[in-house]
Amino acid sequence: MAEKPWDGRFAEKTDKRVEAFTASHAYDRRLYPYDIAGSIAHCKMLAKVGVITGEEVAQLVEGLGTVKRELDHGKFVFDDSLEDIHMHIEARLLQVAGKVAQKLHTARSRNDQIALDVRMYLREETRCTIGLLRALRKALVELAAAHPDVIMPGYTHTQRAQPVLMAHHLMAYYEMFTRDQARMVDCLGRIDVMPLGTAALAGTTYPIDRAYVAELLDFPAVSNNSMDAVSDRDFAMEFLSAASISMVHLSRLSEELVLWSTAEFGFVTLPDAFATGSSIMPQKKNPDIPEIVRGKTGRVVGSLVALLTLMKSLPMAYNRDMQEDKEPLFDAVDTLTACLSINADMIPRIIVNRETMRRAASVGFLNATDMADYLVGRGMPFRKAHACVGKAVAFALDKGKELHELTLDELKGFSSLIQEDLYEHLTLEHMVDRRQSVGGTSTRNVVAAIDAARRVLAGEEA
Ligand code: ARG
Repeated sequence: MAEKPWDGRFAEKTDKRVEAFTASHAYDRRLYPYDIAGSIAHCKMLAKVGVITGEEVAQLVEGLGTVKRELDHGKFVFDDSLEDIHMHIEARLLQVAGKVAQKLHTARSRNDQIALDVRMYLREETRCTIGLLRALRKALVELAAAHPDVIMPGYTHTQRAQPVLMAHHLMAYYEMFTRDQARMVDCLGRIDVMPLGTAALAGTTYPIDRAYVAELLDFPAVSNNSMDAVSDRDFAMEFLSAASISMVHLSRLSEELVLWSTAEFGFVTLPDAFATGSSIMPQKKNPDIPEIVRGKTGRVVGSLVALLTLMKSLPMAYNRDMQEDKEPLFDAVDTLTACLSINADMIPRIIVNRETMRRAASVGFLNATDMADYLVGRGMPFRKAHACVGKAVAFALDKGKELHELTLDELKGFSSLIQEDLYEHLTLEHMVDRRQSVGGTSTRNVVAAIDAARRVLAGEEA
């Protein structure tokens, strides 16, 4: 059993169950690269301000390098008595570098150390998330661009409503994930603040140079208030909020893919490589990826709620409760990145069943609004037109026909304003392309939106 750094004031050994209960190394070990990078920057700074010598910093940096290699190669022994990753690294450093290791923790506390590690970790993961969101947006734009003329039913209340371009539907998701990306970029700005040097909570008596540490670790700013710096987890709550919103978007997309790939809809076929079968029913091809993504949404939202609940009512400054921030955060990061990445890979391979979509858009009176608009265009007030078309719909339903399947004479029975040109007015292409209001589904708008998105993506990649 390793000696504890705080052994001095304790009369008895820590109970084994307490060690197991308080230990966090099983999960916080993933922070080791940041912990070591932070320690290297910290000791370089201590040398710069004259708290340790040049020779000491060289020994510490070399020792930390050795410890890092051991961790990289999985040759590191973990032990509950050393609690967390910080104490493990420091204890091992003592063995490989000798007594000089006892100087590393000068002007530092685990409270600011963990704040630094989590920020460095989350900064990297947030950048990765931003890249994955970009890849997903690109996949959606390219699927839209490859099918510029596919018409499908647009839905409200999951009831067929009006025809839209499938590309328009896909570009709606592009908009959602673009906002998600902006949220991540915004959050990154607040993650990227350097807390080290605030020590336990009050700052330190040593003449430290925090700006130098920030420069070494590539942080654009240092935290303003030492008490805030060790007790702030807003950046993690923000990340989890943004992650939860992204998961909700992914879940909505997944739900549509599950529905669209049913025999009942038949709008899309998922690639075989991204589906699985049944152990009993030989015919089955199941949309497991979207289903699992939909299912995983609860984990990420749960992580957000866990962290919000963890932080609520915590008095200033550091509290050990905050150790519980890591598992939900890590799980949410892993879940979100896996879901984004698999969707970005799957979406380009989705097979679009254009005829099935078109057929669905042709049945169910999706042209009723357009027939009303036709009458409005010929002088009838909209409310009157609405009622008139309602009667035509009831009549057609009774005959088992669509509006455009009624004869001209039958149609004229509802209004003398109706002429032969109504039929052309009610074709899918005309209905879609007349919707030229800003943001509407006309081909012209959608092609422009795709072009604009491609330019935005190319600019982001440059
Ligand atoms: N393992 C701790 C955490 O994750 C590190 C900070 C511990 N500080 C302390 N004084 N016990 O929050």
